[in-house]
Amino acid sequence: MSQNPRIAIVGAGNVGGNLGIHLARSGFSVRFGVREGSDAKEVIEKSGGKAEQSSIPEAAKWADVIFLAVPANAAVEATRSMGDISGKVLVDCNNPLKWDDGPVHTPPPEGSLAAALAKAFPKVRVVKGFSTFGAEFHLEPKLGNTSIDVQLAGDDAQAKELVSSIATRAGFTPVDVGPLRNAAHLESLAILWIHLAMRAGQGREIGFKLLKRG
Ligand SMILES: NC(=O)c1ccc[n+]([C@@H]2O[C@H](COP(=O)([O-])OP(=O)(O)OC[C@H]3O[C@@H](n4cnc5c(N)ncnc54)[C@H](OP(=O)(O)O)[C@@H]3O)[C@@H](O)[C@H]2O)c1
Repeated sequence: MSQNPRIAIVGAGNVGGNLGIHLARSGFSVRFGVREGSDAKEVIEKSGGKAEQSSIPEAAKWADVIFLAVPANAAVEATRSMGDISGKVLVDCNNPLKWDDGPVHTPPPEGSLAAALAKAFPKVRVVKGFSTFGAEFHLEPKLGNTSIDVQLAGDDAQAKELVSSIATRAGFTPVDVGPLRNAAHLESLAILWIHLAMRAGQGREIGFKLLKRG
């Protein structure tokens, strides 16, 4: 399975749509899980017909790894709508925030949305990631001669390794940032990205990079 994990994407908007297109073009089996009355036809077309769509529970049941990219306040409800996903890997790409003359982190009482998901769905292997840059990078992770860092936080080492291998194969640079409690820092980092991109005049073609001497 780990050689070619099946990937479901719930939320076919800016982030989920772009990521699904890119992962499908990168050779992964991708299925969008869509709500009744919605469809992902446009993004499937952009993937060159390489991705598929089905209902959310069908996509979740089929998948090994599920990327969740919905409005943060819908994340728990959307995960519940997947049905029983015990043992599956859920990648939380979402950032809980409000706008008050700029982005403000509004985490749930658990400290981060990822921690709230892990608490609500204790048998699901939650990894926080793909959340600290704009959706343009989900479609094209390369920036000049380098590629955007995907910071990954999670308590399940194998789940994190699987997501890391997907990121690498798709041209991102994964960075393991430790346990799921560090998801709160990633959500804060995303708020900083939004501030820099949308309030401080840096624009959206920016990303955080871990620099290393030697
Ligand atoms: N935009 C960015 O640059 C960016 C970057 C990093 C992280 N994020 C985070 O990524 C998440 C998605 O952002 P986005 O910009 O991609 O949003 P978006 O373009 O508005 O797309 C949201 C998607 O979520 C689906 N959705 C909404 N409520 C749902 C529910 N209850 N159950 C299932 N699906 C539901 C929508 O489907 P329908 O068609 O059915 O409404 C839509 O496909 C947010 O949490 C955001 O904080 C965004």
